[in-house]
Amino acid sequence: MTASITLPVSILGSISREEFLRDYWQKKPLLIRQALPDFTPPLDVDELAGLALEEGVESRVVMAQGPESPWQLFNGPFKESFLQTLPEKNWSLLVQAVDHLLPEVGELLKAFDFLPSWRVDDLMISYAPEGGSVGPHFDYYDVFLLQASGKRRWQLGQYCDESSPLRTDTQLKILTEFEANTEQDWVLEAGDLLYLPPQLAHWGTSLSEDCTTWSVGFRALSAEEILCGVADFIGETLADDLRYTDADIKLPEHLAAIDDAAMDRVKSLLNKVMDNPAALSEWFGRAMTQTKYPDQLFAQEDPWTTATLHELMNEDEPLLVIAEGSRLAFRVANEGNWLFADGEALKFSAELKDWVADLSAKVNLDATFIKQTLNLPEASELLVKLINQGSVYLIEEDDNNLLH
Ligand code: SIN
Ligand code: CO
Repeated sequence: MTASITLPVSILGSISREEFLRDYWQKKPLLIRQALPDFTPPLDVDELAGLALEEGVESRVVMAQGPESPWQLFNGPFKESFLQTLPEKNWSLLVQAVDHLLPEVGELLKAFDFLPSWRVDDLMISYAPEGGSVGPHFDYYDVFLLQASGKRRWQLGQYCDESSPLRTDTQLKILTEFEANTEQDWVLEAGDLLYLPPQLAHWGTSLSEDCTTWSVGFRALSAEEILCGVADFIGETLADDLRYTDADIKLPEHLAAIDDAAMDRVKSLLNKVMDNPAALSEWFGRAMTQTKYPDQLFAQEDPWTTATLHELMNEDEPLLVIAEGSRLAFRVANEGNWLFADGEALKFSAELKDWVADLSAKVNLDATFIKQTLNLPEASELLVKLINQGSVYLIEEDDNNLLH
């Protein structure tokens, strides 16, 4: 592992953040040449391959012409011998959520400070020798593709949806038709960055033996996930005696007919139970901070109290950090104030607003911050909760941060 990432003033190059959000975000692709001119990946291909051997790390190998099928998918964790016997060309190794494992890699996420942090899903790293690719496909995620080393050709195609035909001879969702746009066909070199909006077909192929791509993906819940999630969350709180009622009923025209009045009653019951801003806020905050890999969150075996937090101040330069895979968000609203952390919702009073905002923007909680926290009893309680659930942990001297 080498030194940490040097970030430029803006990864958007000559385009302002406002312009990017207005003209490109979720709308159209953007290629930014030399967005990170001094980028040197803090981990090499051997270290990436090492991660793909680890239990609890999500990794894949895709072979364009696999022994059993085209675009054959192999899921990790892998044996070293499997990776060593891969052919010379035409395959790809992908390791998901490397930012959750290595803080040095997670540092790149700071460059995306023009978007809410809770929209970030993860940072995936792929390695491919010449010809390596995951095939023509589309994602439902916005993605920023950073060429970290080597060269990759990116071809962009048509906008796709659920009805776009997919190949049936592979487990991967590979498009049968790829309408290559000749004006959007680029070779990316180290430091170049490509933004792709959701549902745009793309096809990246390695042109060198050292091609690594870092993909920052943004989570977007489907309407189904939102509806089912909210329905479950609110549903649990509803009394059994809240039911469909029809005290206003008129003599039916036909005994078997469901009339408009019946449907209006259903709609108004639904509107009534859904008109619950507090439940909606709480559900959304929990959902957007839900950990991708709950196994990577380590709850304290010996729970802390605020007294433990006080004791910390006897140490030389104590340092607490937000866990690599943790997601924090907050909401301050009429219906309530919440700090969300890894799917948990912690209520707080209005006086704590600045402290919560400050905490949620930090990675390291140093002695000064801990001291400030200790002056606020409610903040101390919140911080202890975060520590006990594993969202914040104490850096021990010999911590190497790989699934600490
Ligand atoms: C890759 O890194 O090879 C694939 C990234 C993507 O297409 O989303
Ligand atoms: Co993709």
